[in-house]
Amino acid sequence: MSDLICENYNMLQVLTRFGLSLGFGDRTIEEVCREQQVDCPTFLVVVNFLTVGECPLPDRMKALSVPALMDYLKRAHSYYLDFELPTIRRKLIEAIDFTHQEEVSYLIIQFFDAYVAEVRKHMEYENDKVFTYVQALLEGVLSTEYNIDMFARHHEQINLKLTELKNIIIKYYPSGGDSQLVNATLFDIFSCEADLMSHTRVEDRLLVPVIQQLEMAVKTRQAGAVEADASAGGKTDDTLSQREKEIIGCVVRGLTNKEIADKLFISIHTVITHRRNISRKLQIHSVAGLTIYAIVNKLVELNEINTNI
Ligand SMILES: [Fe+2]
Ligand SMILES: [Fe+2]
Repeated sequence: MSDLICENYNMLQVLTRFGLSLGFGDRTIEEVCREQQVDCPTFLVVVNFLTVGECPLPDRMKALSVPALMDYLKRAHSYYLDFELPTIRRKLIEAIDFTHQEEVSYLIIQFFDAYVAEVRKHMEYENDKVFTYVQALLEGVLSTEYNIDMFARHHEQINLKLTELKNIIIKYYPSGGDSQLVNATLFDIFSCEADLMSHTRVEDRLLVPVIQQLEMAVKTRQAGAVEADASAGGKTDDTLSQREKEIIGCVVRGLTNKEIADKLFISIHTVITHRRNISRKLQIHSVAGLTIYAIVNKLVELNEINTNI
């Protein structure tokens, strides 16, 4: 791990965003990740992507952990909004000479503030809309109104205005002020610009494809569940199917039809059909009766149910 950082100090940013702390001695990347409970395949994919610039092969892509990648991106957002951009602003104010009421000085700060507002909007959208959508997907819920392609289509580079600001300062910065500090701030702007560009690439080239895969997996799982339910519904003998047993478990634990449908990725209509079949097969028509049946047949434990039923 220390070789990785010494060879490419930009990877320090990646460490922070994965929540990895320094002091790893001679331990390997795998050992450090295991010790600090960081998903190693995801860390390696991100590092390779940022250093070599190549997209991972499909099997590596499959090894990516969506929660780990999402955490990484969220930490990066906090870093830009709460640390790096405010630091650049503070340095700019310190560096620029305001004593001569130089208009360009004020315009530079104004430009920077407008830029930060844009970045904030962009990142808050990702935190609130995109990551909430992804979290629901991870829980097996597929939205009918939103998908990752919609995000990908409208996802823009956020470093362009910073490039513009950098050029304005280089070309039109008024004389005066602390030139050492101005140059140091410019240096920070250059590095922030490159970092933001990489951040956007990670979202476009890693996040989007991995979420497309996840969307496919959820769709396939849902289609499989519906198929299995349809064939289970066609049975005429009185033996309970595995799915019917699952539904009894849900009913006696107090779940509503809608909650059961969401949990098992089936429609409410399918749940109702199953419940009708269960009643017919068992000749039990109440939740209290089903509860007794479930306990006797060990479908649930006594402590899992509400005994006031
Ligand atoms: Fe982002
Ligand atoms: Fe973004």
